[in-house]
Amino acid sequence: MAELRHFLDLWRLDGATLRALLDEAARRKAARGGWPTGRVDADAPAAGRTLAMIFEKNSTRTRFSFDAAIRQLGGASVIANAQDMQLGRGEPVEDTARVLSRMVDLVMIRANRHEDIERFAQAATVPVINGLTDRGHPCQILADLMTFEAHRGPVEGKTLAWVGDGNNVCASLIHAAGKLGFTLRVATPAAYHPDLMDLARAGNLGKVEVGHDPREAAEGADAVFTDTWVSMGDTDHDERVAAFEPFQVDQAMMGFAAKDALFLHCLPAHRGEEVTDAVMDGPQSVVWEEAENRIHAQKAVIAWCLGGVC
Ligand code: CP
Ligand code: NVA
Repeated sequence: MAELRHFLDLWRLDGATLRALLDEAARRKAARGGWPTGRVDADAPAAGRTLAMIFEKNSTRTRFSFDAAIRQLGGASVIANAQDMQLGRGEPVEDTARVLSRMVDLVMIRANRHEDIERFAQAATVPVINGLTDRGHPCQILADLMTFEAHRGPVEGKTLAWVGDGNNVCASLIHAAGKLGFTLRVATPAAYHPDLMDLARAGNLGKVEVGHDPREAAEGADAVFTDTWVSMGDTDHDERVAAFEPFQVDQAMMGFAAKDALFLHCLPAHRGEEVTDAVMDGPQSVVWEEAENRIHAQKAVIAWCLGGVC
């Protein structure tokens, strides 16, 4: 039996596959033009297929974009909060995976613990997609890089800056750097630097520099990325807000980047904390397009999981 195509972490995929996913996402987006969001793509590669979505944490973009994505590919979705499932009353992850594998064709999970999505994938007999865990947000970074490339061309050889928390979204960006050959400068407070394993997984095709000076990271960069200072599940709110204050992306910070640098944020944003209104709503911001591109990037992921794309 062919190996299942799980989409759990970007570091598990090779550069050619990531490249193919980005190209497929852009191609599908362009092919739709201004079609209504519910209209099915001409080739309907997910016709007759069902995507299950399980949420252990809140979500707006992931929930709605995956639903739009599977519909546009010709399939259907069923969405549940983990707390409403028997999973929320202690049914083992593995047993849930075995049951759902007989009822749907692929499963997207937003999980508190990365280990749980790995356990789910081990027991499942259908592909499993990571819709965010404490250790990664691979679908987000695919959409982010797609957005960057729509404005600036291939990301290979470019310099991106991450300013803020060395969190799950940062981890997936680190994973992509090694695969797609871009330089990534990460600036975090000392106590919130990225996981060393993530740096190791970045490989040697790209260059990831980690420091604690946000202006140094932003200097001349082609794009500045940030994210919330307090992620879902973080309990040290006050310590974080104090530590991250010098890492706010404001117009002065954007001024250190290249003149036409893009601003990206996975959202939800906490205006006045990690980013100011002037940057969020300013001409360099591509955050709304970035949110929309979750649909297109995830269509490529779903099509790949089902055996297409490459
Ligand atoms: N960026 C993102 O994943 O947003 P949601 O938490 O709303 O899904
Ligand atoms: N780092 C954030 C991302 C939300 C999409 C979190 O995990 O809460």
